Formats: sequence, structure tokens, C-alpha cells
Amino acid sequence: MNHTTDGIVSIEEIAKELKDAATFIGQRVINREEVIEQAFCALLTAEHMLLQSRTGVGKSLLAEQIFRMFDGARMFRVQASKEQQPDTFFGGLDLEELKAGRIIHNTKGSLVESDFGFIDEIFDANDFTLRALLSLLNERRLLRGVQDVASPLHTVLAATNYLRVSEVTEALLDRFLFKAVILPDKDPFIQYRIAQRYLEHGGRVAEPPRTIPLERLQHMHRIIVGRSEDVQISITNELLYFTNIVIRHYEFLQNRQRGETARHGDGTDFYISPRTQAKSLDLLRALALLKGRSHVIHDDVSRLYFIFATVGIPEEISLFKKAYTTVLNSLTASRGFDQITILLDFTDLLRELRASPRMMLEPLTNFADTPVRRTFMDWIRERFGQDLPQDQNKKMLEQFITDFVPVCDEVRELRHSVERTLQQTLIAVERELQRGA
Ligand SMILES: Nc1ncnc2c1ncn2[C@@H]1O[C@H](COP(=O)(O)OP(=O)(O)OP(=O)(O)O)[C@@H](O)[C@H]1O
Ligand SMILES: [Mg+2]
Repeated sequence: MNHTTDGIVSIEEIAKELKDAATFIGQRVINREEVIEQAFCALLTAEHMLLQSRTGVGKSLLAEQIFRMFDGARMFRVQASKEQQPDTFFGGLDLEELKAGRIIHNTKGSLVESDFGFIDEIFDANDFTLRALLSLLNERRLLRGVQDVASPLHTVLAATNYLRVSEVTEALLDRFLFKAVILPDKDPFIQYRIAQRYLEHGGRVAEPPRTIPLERLQHMHRIIVGRSEDVQISITNELLYFTNIVIRHYEFLQNRQRGETARHGDGTDFYISPRTQAKSLDLLRALALLKGRSHVIHDDVSRLYFIFATVGIPEEISLFKKAYTTVLNSLTASRGFDQITILLDFTDLLRELRASPRMMLEPLTNFADTPVRRTFMDWIRERFGQDLPQDQNKKMLEQFITDFVPVCDEVRELRHSVERTLQQTLIAVERELQRGA
């Protein structure tokens, strides 16, 4: 075994543990492999997930079986209904406080003090109650009137038979980063296997041979968000850039499609917020972890549809995959990836220059310390000869960008931005040096 000093397990072991758990769930809940994987991504990134389907396709069973794989977690379950008030979720009102005119929930045992939540038939809840839930789901705080309580809430799985559209449900949907639609299983063999499971377990969850302690899941989450000291999952700059181009292209394809189907001026534009975009980086690391890798690869990006599309809706997924493939092909065919790496490395140099303007007073060739940085330095030597007078640094930096010939549109755009960054850096550095002189 590969335990580090404080008993923390390796990436490979974590991946195996998660895979075993997912396999176990898949044996009880038939034909849900992708939704199960998506749910694990939600758990690893500590996000919420919404399951939607017609009645009786195993949503409740799936949610219960997933949570059953963990131990040491406080669990809150509720079946939502129209008459319920916020106290169903936040705990009953403190009557003494109420006499004094203050609304204070007694949060003990409520969703506020739980690690996991399962909210069944969530859209049956009234808008007033749903609105009250929003900040708990997002900020992990109960914020009501004078009451402000931090909540340990890790992940809520919610289920529904239908989507109800109102102003508040739209905001609520936004809190569920992961969404899946489950279509009824028509295949006779799958129906046969479901029936078989039913004979064995009745409608109940299966007892797993091993469970994952909540603490371990929290540790995995820290790895995912880059807050673990002993285990890191890396993403290269080039991959980061690639990810953003893919997302933007997906946004473009979505809008083009909507433009074709919707009437003019419908205002149905598809928008991916920077918040969601940032969260996609956590998902990338979760996907790598599930595969037992300590670094993100291109293929992980192709699976970002877990948050950008609704799992179970093939058209949405294929649109995302199309965005991925288009950008990937364009960059691979043209050596664009290499160029992006070089330009991004160049911007790292600019950032260093900005932080320590005095670097400008030395030959920049002194700073050729990374392999890619050498590309730039080799170019300097080739273009300007060996020993450079210090005042040529500026000219060199500019000439590098001027000589850089982009091989495709994606790189051309980046080159343009880098050029702008360069000009800003040069102005800032010069100002700084003058002040220092
Ligand atoms: N994919 C499946 N694998 C195994 N059992 C299943 C599956 N789908 C449905 N079942 C069986 O159907 C029963 C009903 O499922 P469940 O109550 O979880 O459905 P649901 O989607 O939550 O329905 P509702 O929308 O009415 O709440 C389960 O207890 C189980 O026996
Ligand atoms: Mg149900």
C-alpha cells in the first residue's frame, strides 16, 4: 500500500475505491452507468445534482444507493410538497425567539446541519420555500433575517418528474451544476435485469461491502480544488486555454442552433457564466482523479458535457462533443497546440517582467530556465546574435510577436491578446524603471 505519512491514500487507490463504489451502485441500479459517474463528479466537486425523469425509473433508488456508499455523513431526506414552509428544510421556528419577534430556525437535524441532502420531487415545493433554499445551496449558509449559520452541506441530490418554469426555478436550476434526464428503459433485457434486482432486493438499496468515510470524500474534494498539500492534479496552461476555446465554441454552436430554431428577438441566448467556466476546472480534475491520473488530458475536456449539457439528452451531448472535436482538430492539424504553448509561456515571461521590472536591465537570455522558454531564447540568439546590449530587450520582445506567424484562427486570436499584453507590460515596466532611477 502506498500510504503517505498522515495515512492519506494515493490517487490510484482513490480511483479504485471510487470505481468499486460506482460498480456496486451499477449492479443495483441497472443501466445508469453514465449518471452514476456524473453523480460521482458532483460528489467530488461538492456540487449539487438534479435527476429528472418520468415516474418509477429508479431516481429515488439511485440517490439512496449513492449516499449509502458513504459513512459518517449526516443525511437529510425530504419529499417536497406545496404546503411546506422553509422550516421543513431549515428546522422549526424557535418559539421563544418568535415571541420576541425574531424568526430563528432551530437547525438541529435539518438540511442546514447535514452533509448530504436528498430532496425528492423538488419542484413540488412552493416558490417561497425554493427561494429560501437558494442561498443555502449556493453559499452553504442559512441566511434568514437575523439568522446566519454556516452549513457543512456537501452535495444535494434532487429528483423531479417535471420542470416547472418560474423566476425562482430558473435560479434554482442554476444551483444544480449537474443535471441528468433519465429516459424509461424500453429494452426487454434491461427490464429483465431490473426485475431480477427487484426479486433480490425488493425496492430497497443494497448493502455495500465497503463504504467510503465522509472524511475521505472531503479529502478528495480538497485534491479536486487544489487545496490538498500531498496530492495535486495538474492542468497545463495549454490545456487551460484549450478548455476555454472549446467552451466558447460550444456556446457559439448553442446560440447558432437556437438562432435557427427560435424566432427573432426571443432573447433565448445561451450563456455560460465565468463561475461555471471556473467550475469546469474542478470537474476536469475530478475526471482525471476518477481515471487515477495526476494530470488532466485533452480527453477529459471532451467530458465537460457533464456540466454543460444535460446527461441523457443525446443532442446536447453531441453538440458539446462537436465543439470539442472541431477545436481539437483545428489545433492538432496545424501544430496550433505548440504555438499556444509558446505564446502562453511568453506571457509568463511578461508577467515576471511586470513583477520585477529590473529583469529588463539584464539580457533576457539569462532567464532561459524552462524548456519552452528556450524556444524564445533560441529565437533571440538566432535573430539578434549572442551578446545583446540590454536596451535591446524591448525590441526583442516586440520582434518576437511580430515574427510569430499563427497557423490557425485560434492562435491568431491569442497572438493578438499577447501583443496587447506585451504593450501594457512594456509601458508598466518602463514606468517602474523610471520611478526606480
Ligand atoms: N434502473 C433500475 N434499476 C433497478 N431497479 C429499478 C430501476 N428503475 C426502476 N427500478 C425499480 O423501480 C422501483 C421504483 O423506483 P423509484 O421509486 O426509485 O423511481 P422514481 O424515479 O423515484 O419514481 P418517482 O418519480 O415516482 O418518485 C425501484 O424500487 C426499483 O425496484
Ligand atoms: Mg422517487
